[in-house]
Amino acid sequence: MLKSKVALVTGGSRGIGKAIVERLYKEGASVAINCANSTDDAGKLAFSLDESEERAKVYQANVAAWSEVKTMFQQVINDFGGLDILVNCAGLGISRDSALALSQQDWDLAVDVNFKGSGYCCIEAINWMKNHGGGNIVNISTSAIFAPRGGTIPYSASKAAVVNMTRALAWEFGPDHIRVNAVAPGPTETDMVKMFFTPERLEKTIREIPLRKIARPEDIAGAVFYLLTTDAAMMTGQTLVIDGGRSLRHLES
Ligand SMILES: NC(=O)c1ccc[n+]([C@@H]2O[C@H](COP(=O)([O-])OP(=O)(O)OC[C@H]3O[C@@H](n4cnc5c(N)ncnc54)[C@H](OP(=O)(O)O)[C@@H]3O)[C@@H](O)[C@H]2O)c1
Repeated sequence: MLKSKVALVTGGSRGIGKAIVERLYKEGASVAINCANSTDDAGKLAFSLDESEERAKVYQANVAAWSEVKTMFQQVINDFGGLDILVNCAGLGISRDSALALSQQDWDLAVDVNFKGSGYCCIEAINWMKNHGGGNIVNISTSAIFAPRGGTIPYSASKAAVVNMTRALAWEFGPDHIRVNAVAPGPTETDMVKMFFTPERLEKTIREIPLRKIARPEDIAGAVFYLLTTDAAMMTGQTLVIDGGRSLRHLES
């Protein structure tokens, strides 16, 4: 389905990003795998997909540094001859007991990586796609934007900003044949979920989720893939919530 497409997945070394890389590769895309630090994991992933490294390559860059992002995009476009798909999955979680416990670093990191990092990548991708017939962008937000709590404000607000940006970019660049959508996962089985939930809290949360389970990274990858297909050709500026119904909770009386 994605044969001959070139996709860049930020935060593709682990967790949800890794599952997205695997799915897009399986669907025929050539995949550029970005990570910040875990180059070994990313290298193993690329090798497991394509020993010849023709259709899967690793690009180390901190998405919060625009100069590194620019260099990464230039390299990807040089190596693969273009770019059709960007999935902004790089992100970090911030979770404290209370809003009063948040440090300046918590605020800065969440906004720099989750919001500005996604923004820099969107701009670089759009600069290319606009002049080369269009493209497709999916930004990873979180269902926590619907039920934020004090100790996660920088995280949930930075991810709410990602949804806002998704809508703005979809509006401006639709005429250039660029679709921009978002996926908002609920708790998903990765390293990050351990930061937000103790095992006891996770158990309690699962009991409250209508589907009585948390997502697997593959569930999120499936939603991303859908948005990249022609089945979603009329969708832009939208956010798909993949959380087993957890965010319906705020509707309870
Ligand atoms: N897991 C959940 O429950 C959940 C729920 C809702 C939304 N999300 C969102 O889904 C995305 C993936 O989360 P995950 O659970 O898969 O997390 P994860 O397992 O902790 O993986 C995070 C990924 O982001 C990369 N990354 C972090 N900071 C970066 C930076 N400055 N520059 C480039 N890459 C960076 C990491 O690279 P390194 O390996 O090099 O550190 C890693 O590949 C995040 O945006 C997260 O907010 C997750």
